[in-house]
Amino acid sequence: MNIQAFSPEILEQACHLLAAGDVVAIPTETVYGLAADATNDQAVAKIYAVKERPQFNPLIIHCHSAQQAKQYVDFDARAEQLAHEFWPGPITFVLNRRQDSDISFLASSGLDTLAVRIPAHPMAQALIKAYSKPLAAPSANLSQTISPTSAVDVRASLGSRVPLIIDGGNTRVGVESTIIDLTENVPVVLRPGGVSLERIQEVIGTVTLGGHGAIKAPGMMERHYAPSVKMRLNVLAPLPGEKYLGFGDMVCDLNLSSSGNLEEAAAHLFRMIRELDQSGTVAIAVAPIPNHGLGLAINDRLQRAAS
Ligand code: TXA
Ligand code: MG
Repeated sequence: MNIQAFSPEILEQACHLLAAGDVVAIPTETVYGLAADATNDQAVAKIYAVKERPQFNPLIIHCHSAQQAKQYVDFDARAEQLAHEFWPGPITFVLNRRQDSDISFLASSGLDTLAVRIPAHPMAQALIKAYSKPLAAPSANLSQTISPTSAVDVRASLGSRVPLIIDGGNTRVGVESTIIDLTENVPVVLRPGGVSLERIQEVIGTVTLGGHGAIKAPGMMERHYAPSVKMRLNVLAPLPGEKYLGFGDMVCDLNLSSSGNLEEAAAHLFRMIRELDQSGTVAIAVAPIPNHGLGLAINDRLQRAAS
């Protein structure tokens, strides 16, 4: 059994695996990550292999502190402000890579920028500190499947391809980090996620929502979050035979948040889609989700899942 509770011994085992160029699945506050030494090309290649992920997709580099991140990327005033406000937490910065950075170019698909973030999960923090080098970590699932929000989800998707899955319980946020490109004059949100656009704008002013540049945001075109059955969105009345995923006070099979709380809905999103998908239904219908705050990230994931 590769799922293990966190302990000093497991932390040590994880460091050994990472040093040997292997992968370890770790909890973060967003989703579980499939982590490897970000400075080791072979180890990074293993991530792609295990996930069966197309290699042109760059990965997020996870650090334990802003200080550590600054060894690899150039911070500007906006990055400082956002880091001060939201790190550790579910937001990733795309910044120019430092000349002397030894991060694997495979991890950044050869780009001269890097995506960096500091996860807010104590186990992820402890591991990155203990290992002392940053970890590249995409979501710990096969490409084009739903992101994992528990150790059991990771195991269901990757099985014994991962030698160690550290069990940190259900993830708190439930959707991936917001990715913001800070290399542009006006910052561009490449992927909506755990920190809302509104909160970002309160800190650094206007940002645009984008990702048209194919190279800048390959992630925007991925079909990441697909259940095996058909899914319809913005449904007010489900058809006979459809399972209904609700939001707010309504009759449905599963409710993302009966009180209409978008944060609660985000945390439930992948788990509930998974549950309905596995229920033997022929199709899933999803109630309308308001398109503000975390609703933007939720609708983005739903659209990909339905496409
Ligand atoms: O919440 C998260 O961010 C999770 C947890 C595990 O931390 N990680 C995650 O990583 O979602 P991943 O690999 O699934 O998403 C990486 C995204 C990709 O869509 C990629 O396009 C974008 O980050 N990305 C990475 N490096 C980039 C770069 N240099 N420029 C633009 N986009 C980049
Ligand atoms: Mg992913």
